[in-house]
Amino acid sequence: MTILVTGAAGFIGSNFVIDWLAQSNETVVNLDKLTYAGNLHNLAALEGNPAHVFVQADIGDSATVSQLLSTHQPRAVLNFAAESHVDRSIHGPEDFIQTNVLGTFRLLESVRAYWQALAEPEKGAFRFLHVSTDEVYGSLGPNDAPFAETNAFEPNSPYSASKAASDHLVRAWHHTYGLPVLTTNCSNNYGPFHFPEKLIPLVITNALAGKPLPIYGDGMQIRDWLYVSDHCSAIRTVLAQGQLGETYNIGGWNEQPNIEIVRTICTLLDTLRPRADGRSYASQISYVTDRPGHDRRYAIDAQKIERALGWRPAETFESGIRKTVQWYLDNQDWVAQVQSGAYREWVTQQYGQAS
Ligand code: NAD
Ligand code: TYD
Repeated sequence: MTILVTGAAGFIGSNFVIDWLAQSNETVVNLDKLTYAGNLHNLAALEGNPAHVFVQADIGDSATVSQLLSTHQPRAVLNFAAESHVDRSIHGPEDFIQTNVLGTFRLLESVRAYWQALAEPEKGAFRFLHVSTDEVYGSLGPNDAPFAETNAFEPNSPYSASKAASDHLVRAWHHTYGLPVLTTNCSNNYGPFHFPEKLIPLVITNALAGKPLPIYGDGMQIRDWLYVSDHCSAIRTVLAQGQLGETYNIGGWNEQPNIEIVRTICTLLDTLRPRADGRSYASQISYVTDRPGHDRRYAIDAQKIERALGWRPAETFESGIRKTVQWYLDNQDWVAQVQSGAYREWVTQQYGQAS
């Protein structure tokens, strides 16, 4: 048996494939374009493992995707591939429309043609699982109930609008063509292999490099944070037991303002790798101009997946963030490798020369 996973050289996809092959003999075909966010070093642990087949391609390349489906006959396609960084979507939204909207459309069409030609029982057992985000629901006020699956989509950034569009396409391909789809909407992930332009890895790597820790606006924006291996286990659960056409919210029951996240990381680093001058890493905190259209609060009501499928996160934020900080301390080579020319250009564009 085989599954096809798109975007599995990125942060969550690579964690998913590593976790999958640790508990299954089922081959993974990994289709990834290798954008700035795709990194085969994330998958170094799988080198020489015949159960991992890597193919560099775009999800929008219908000929290649169709060829791969026909050659490998997967029982499921899991779509992680996306442009995923809100700040990049503000500077350049077009790539987000290309991959997240047009790419998902083309992928759906390739998968639909493959699925329609399958014979039973393979046709009935086939699944298309679309990995999405809680950001499609928009922004919450301080006293609003957390996002439920029934909330209307109110995306505010080019990123979340493009993901919302992809979720709608997936829904329509089920409703109109009967494609057997599942969709997951997850909160902010953190953990190993997280590209260091996102908040948590940026703060860890900047702290260790003696650089400012940039906090947008007042730092009181709230996110729900989930350790990445919990997201991966939730996706395995939905793939195995999810009801066709349903969406499942995935979250960590852990809402925190950004400034608290940053302070927690500083406190951990103060113990694990104290600064030479004895001062706290918190002294590097620096408030900077806010992100345009910055969503104030995300929170996930993850009761449906718990009630229907019995999934709950295994990590607390305390255990997950400790593991994450330790991982970055232990994997400085990985950090140095991803901090390539392209990464440095981004940092200069976003934070200016001083950072
Ligand atoms: P990432 O940016 O780290 O990885 C994305 C991967 O997709 C990269 O390997 C990239 O090379 C690949 N890719 C991009 N465009 C492609 C294309 N056209 N064809 C093939 N491959 C392409 O992102 P991530 O954080 O791992 O997110 C994975 C998925 O999970 C995304 O769909 C994202 O929207 C969703 N998600 C992310 C989070 C989070 O906190 N990071 C939370 C919820 C949902
Ligand atoms: P990010 O990791 O980009 O995820 P998202 O925007 O998808 O939630 O950012 C998480 C939060 O941290 C978000 O509220 C923006 C904020 N943030 C900063 O305050 N400073 C930074 O340098 C970055 C990258 C993010």
